[in-house]
Amino acid sequence: MNIASPAFRDMQAYDLQSVIALGETIYQFASTKHLTKQKELLFREFLRWSEQKKAECVVLEDPDSFQILGYFLLILCPECIDSFWKVPDSQRDTTAYLAQIVIHKELQDLGIGSNMLAEIENRALSHGKTRLRLEVASHNPAYQWYLKRDFTVLGSQHFMEKSLEAS
Ligand SMILES: CC(C)(COP(=O)(O)OP(=O)(O)OC[C@H]1O[C@@H](n2cnc3c(N)ncnc32)[C@H](O)[C@@H]1OP(=O)(O)O)[C@@H](O)C(=O)NCCC(=O)NCCS
Repeated sequence: MNIASPAFRDMQAYDLQSVIALGETIYQFASTKHLTKQKELLFREFLRWSEQKKAECVVLEDPDSFQILGYFLLILCPECIDSFWKVPDSQRDTTAYLAQIVIHKELQDLGIGSNMLAEIENRALSHGKTRLRLEVASHNPAYQWYLKRDFTVLGSQHFMEKSLEAS
């Protein structure tokens, strides 16, 4: 796999099969046809939000092989974020929500996720968002990964937030 110059680009409907398959290699739940269909419907909803500028759905691609190395789903619209976490009135304009960030298993621990997070933060800031929020289970290794990257745990142990104002 050549990862010399991966590029970010908007996720398209034709990526969904690859993106869902990539997610399934990471989250090793027994995958059924029904579950995969549910995921596809969810991703299609994200793509609709993206078309409406309510979210950014982005893949990281190797431009030589067109292989997808990772992806992220960043939600910008408070009403959409509400379906994951109710945004307080005072934070509705300033909060972005990272619904998913995934790096191909064989490419983890190479700094790609850190670059992707920097891209996410820049995109959130470019939309005027000064706080990035997410949900991550404390048994997920990503929990420590976020803590090292200036996220702090909110009241509930599953939610974290990072201020982007000093970035
Ligand atoms: C969490 C996740 C996105 C991190 O991506 P990643 O590409 O593995 O992350 P990085 O390589 O940037 O960082 C991992 C480690 O590699 C180290 N590293 C190794 N080589 C590196 C390099 N050349 N440059 C920078 N960091 C490097 C980093 O220091 C880091 O260690 P640290 O966390 O102790 O600081 C990825 O592991 C993943 O997809 N996990 C599964 C899905 C998941 O859990 N997502 C989050 C759910 S909320």
